Amino acid sequence: MPQQRYTITAALPYTNGPIHIGHLAGVYVPADIYARYLRMKGEDVFFVCGSDEHGAAISIRAKKEGKTPKEIIDHYHNMILSSFDDFGISFDHYGRTSDPIHHRTASNFFKALYDKGDFIEETTEQLYDQEAEQFLADRFVVGNCPHCGHEEAYGDQCESCGSSLNATDLINPTSTISGSVPVTKATKHWFLPLERHQNFLENWIMKDHGDDWKPNVYGQVKSWLDDGLKARAVTRDLDWGIPVPVQGGENKVLYVWFDAPIGYISATKDWAQQNNTDWEPYWKDKNTKLIHFIGKDNIVFHCIIFPSMLKAEGSYVLPTNVPANEFLKLEGQKLSTSKNWAVWLHEYLEDFPGKQDVLRYVLTANAPENKDNDFTWRDFQARNDNELVAIYGNFINRIVVLIHKYYQGVVPAPNDNTQLDDETLEELYSLPTKISTALENFRFREASQILLKIARLGNKYLADEEPWKQQKTNPERVKTIMYNGLQIAAVLAIATTPFLPQTANKLKTILGLSLQSNWSDMTQSELVAAGTTLAPSELLFSKVENDDIQIQLDKLKNQSV
Ligand code: 2FM
Ligand code: ZN
Repeated sequence: MPQQRYTITAALPYTNGPIHIGHLAGVYVPADIYARYLRMKGEDVFFVCGSDEHGAAISIRAKKEGKTPKEIIDHYHNMILSSFDDFGISFDHYGRTSDPIHHRTASNFFKALYDKGDFIEETTEQLYDQEAEQFLADRFVVGNCPHCGHEEAYGDQCESCGSSLNATDLINPTSTISGSVPVTKATKHWFLPLERHQNFLENWIMKDHGDDWKPNVYGQVKSWLDDGLKARAVTRDLDWGIPVPVQGGENKVLYVWFDAPIGYISATKDWAQQNNTDWEPYWKDKNTKLIHFIGKDNIVFHCIIFPSMLKAEGSYVLPTNVPANEFLKLEGQKLSTSKNWAVWLHEYLEDFPGKQDVLRYVLTANAPENKDNDFTWRDFQARNDNELVAIYGNFINRIVVLIHKYYQGVVPAPNDNTQLDDETLEELYSLPTKISTALENFRFREASQILLKIARLGNKYLADEEPWKQQKTNPERVKTIMYNGLQIAAVLAIATTPFLPQTANKLKTILGLSLQSNWSDMTQSELVAAGTTLAPSELLFSKVENDDIQIQLDKLKNQSV
């Protein structure tokens, strides 16, 4: 089969703070599993992300910390990058929207749309903070959401109901800079007339993607379309951002949500330049599958605004799928950077060194795929102890220890299989296909549980056959059991790769498998050959102690929410 090209994007994180478990669960772990899986299938994958370094989020943080925006973005960019590295998020490229290549790309994109007459230029009354002498949009202003009444809706979006807003839509607006009540003042901006794209969006999404987009994504998009789309300003009166590159654009910058998704494109260009290859097929070849991994608050931007921009420009493909997740809560409360109600990845690693894969597993098994979900430290402990240690680790440990004990680590040659052996192996070889189906349909939770089923199958096989009871009386039968058990372990090792990359490497090393495995390797009936010498057994997982959990709970108790 010819290779399928995939451009997989993961939402660009704002460099206004470190990364927490909500980011990992909602976007980066599923995107990484998907990218790793497709690479193992031999597809042509480009997995891209980068830092989102413009917009109010950065300016506000800089002001709060008495630093320049540049100092803020450099600091958090490096911190975020090392968290991604620590947790094995395998981007092919990680860009920055403050890079010149991005400024050029976004600026040219704006000009292209401007030249084609795709914007409306209009002077309107906008919110203005007289004390701070600044126009207020986006996160510079909060107020009551006109749709759901949420009291802290931002000037561009309500994070509670997901509505996309104009700042002037807010009821009782207040400036987040000075706390004062804004007045209105006239200013000129460029608007993307989304209403012009309504028909195209309806045909494209409602006709073509009613079945293959997740119901939570499709439902949100449909309700915006049903409400009727309105023009959105894509420029701002700010000094931090990409200058508006047309006449009259002095002292104005592009709206951060205009430039940020273009960041996926500029990062692709950056990567292509560095690797001496062509970026265009990843964005312009009609056979390319473009997949955006995002959180639910980003749906409108990736399903309505960015596709309208791409369509207006004319030469780009549109996303094939946007598998947005819902939100993860922490101990029943909404995660919040400003309230420090979060598990920060760098802190997690200080407290649980080497346990990156445990967090990847727990966040996948409990991913907020179709509804908001709760992360609790007790559940983290239970999944670690009862699933990874008691099921996965236990199976591997038993089989590897027995091979060392009975055969000094050398894999025995099997004899004839029994019917139970054949049935066990038949079930074993059916599981990778089930994982594939789940992953290709963005059902990561289900996929993680099928993975665990492989270990369960191994445990059951050993428990049913009890080789330890037969070793003296029937050593030839035990050789077959141990050999088959090792094939189960090998399939488990390979299938684990996209989910828990560190663990997969450890296990492959124990079993003498190549670290570079393909998904199709799992169809081979002899993955670990007779005569192979296994490496010494190594514990893959260890229990999480009650005290460790208590420390985390106490840490949270000291936060005010
Ligand atoms: O919500 C956010 O954190 C944004 N920084 C995501 C941007 S995604 C993309 F469009 F760049
Ligand atoms: Zn709302």
